[in-house]
Amino acid sequence: MKFSTILALYASAKILPAMAWPGMKNIMAELEHKLAARQDEVGDGDGTDVEDSDELIGDLVTVGAVTDVAQQIQGVITGSIDGFSSEAYTTTVPAKKSAACAADTCCIWSYIAADMKKKFSGSSGRCNGFARAAVRMGFHDAGAWSKTSTNGGADGSLILAGEISRAENNGLQDIVSWTTSLYSKYKTYGVGMADMIQMAATVATVVCPLGPRIRSYVGRIDNSAPAPDGLLPDVNADAETLIQLFADKTIKTHGLTALIGAHSTSQQRFVNTSRAFDPQDSTPGIWDVNFYNQTLQPASAIPKRVFKFNSDVVLSQHPVVATEWNKFVTDQSDWNEDFSREYVRLSLLGVNNINNLIECTKVLPAAKTTYTPPDKAIILKWLAGQFPKLGKFLDSADKLNSTLLKSLGYTP
Ligand code: HEM
Ligand SMILES: *[C@@H]1O[C@H](CO)[C@@H](O)[C@H](O)[C@H]1NC(C)=O
Ligand SMILES: *[C@@H]1O[C@H](CO)[C@@H](O)[C@H](O)[C@H]1NC(C)=O
Ligand SMILES: *[C@@H]1O[C@H](CO)[C@@H](O)[C@H](O)[C@H]1NC(C)=O
Repeated sequence: MKFSTILALYASAKILPAMAWPGMKNIMAELEHKLAARQDEVGDGDGTDVEDSDELIGDLVTVGAVTDVAQQIQGVITGSIDGFSSEAYTTTVPAKKSAACAADTCCIWSYIAADMKKKFSGSSGRCNGFARAAVRMGFHDAGAWSKTSTNGGADGSLILAGEISRAENNGLQDIVSWTTSLYSKYKTYGVGMADMIQMAATVATVVCPLGPRIRSYVGRIDNSAPAPDGLLPDVNADAETLIQLFADKTIKTHGLTALIGAHSTSQQRFVNTSRAFDPQDSTPGIWDVNFYNQTLQPASAIPKRVFKFNSDVVLSQHPVVATEWNKFVTDQSDWNEDFSREYVRLSLLGVNNINNLIECTKVLPAAKTTYTPPDKAIILKWLAGQFPKLGKFLDSADKLNSTLLKSLGYTP
């Protein structure tokens, strides 16, 4: 967590205004000292953790950060600028087909983001299976890249080159076909597939209750050549293999620890097909830190239906991962902050025109910072093992009700 964030927390707790007394300076100095120690857990002395990703990527390496946007991105991926933002349109968004809209790169994206928001949430207020799949699709397009790749990365090739036929992309068929139709709807406005995929991921993240509003950029270059194969993680790999796989993408262990938390929203279907729609924590469709806690717990301490991925378990137990993992258990804002920073990096892997990108974060829906499920009692019974057919309906994120239970042959 950055010092500025802590100050904001103190300010919001109304401590700062009350602090104008003689000893204030000392207390501030002590606070600053403690925070510096906390930030620098691994002790590399530079105020950020040695395991936070900080390597430069793409044209930030070859050309440098020339434009304002590139400078901002460089700040985000090295930790001096927040990877999330609440920036919104301050003026009315121009009509879709107007000249004013054509003159504003982000304008058309606000229409696209609105279509995505509608597709990604249900009447319960949770995010649905399309949202989760969109986040995973963003990862699978961008993540099919390593430092030695000459192509791949966030280039749209997942869709444009038909990578959906690869086994590792199983489960993404529906989101890929929906995104393809959305692309057809908007391509005459000059938007690209790589941007469409990454915008879907960041809209999906913020549509999930408690999810961060990740800085979103457009202007990537599409590529219809397939990305190199074998660069996406295997759910049965050991921790060292997974850590190395991500390190080769410039994502260090804390970055991996933060990104893997996307499984907080998940309901797996193919790791064990006889447990299709079983969630990876007891709160699917919610972007909370429950996943970090429950992955650490013995089966006896968590609901029966929670299905832990082996990759998540082995990572959570790896010594370099464990410290950060345990911090996230009790710190949603720390996780959201780290996830945003690392997702911005992920969303730009293989992008070599960072100096040409435009920031369109302002088109994202507002973040939902609190959430109370309207159908908690039903979900608790499902988690305990009742209502096996309900998983599919939870996936839609519509509010569960007793009429539905009866129609499935259950006694509510
Ligand atoms: C060690 C690394 C990772 C492994 C082994 C892994 C593996 C998996 C597997 C096996 C599934 C279940 C697919 C299914 O059966 O339906 C899944 C789902 C998911 N993964 Fe990962 N993943 C990893 C990292 C990530 C990262 C970095 C992200 C995003 C930043 C991500 C986002 C998701 C999401 C959102 C889902 C739910 C998809 C849905 O419900 O359709 N994963 N992952
Ligand atoms: C899948 O889950 C079922 C039911 O819990 C279990 O019997 C089976 O062994 C699991 N299969 C695999 C491959 O883990
Ligand atoms: C973590 O899970 C355990 C077991 O369900 C629970 O007792 C504990 O309160 C949880 N901790 C947090 C911080 O949520
Ligand atoms: C109950 O849920 C079903 C499925 O989501 C929905 O179609 C129906 O309108 C809901 N009924 C009530 C009374 O809310």
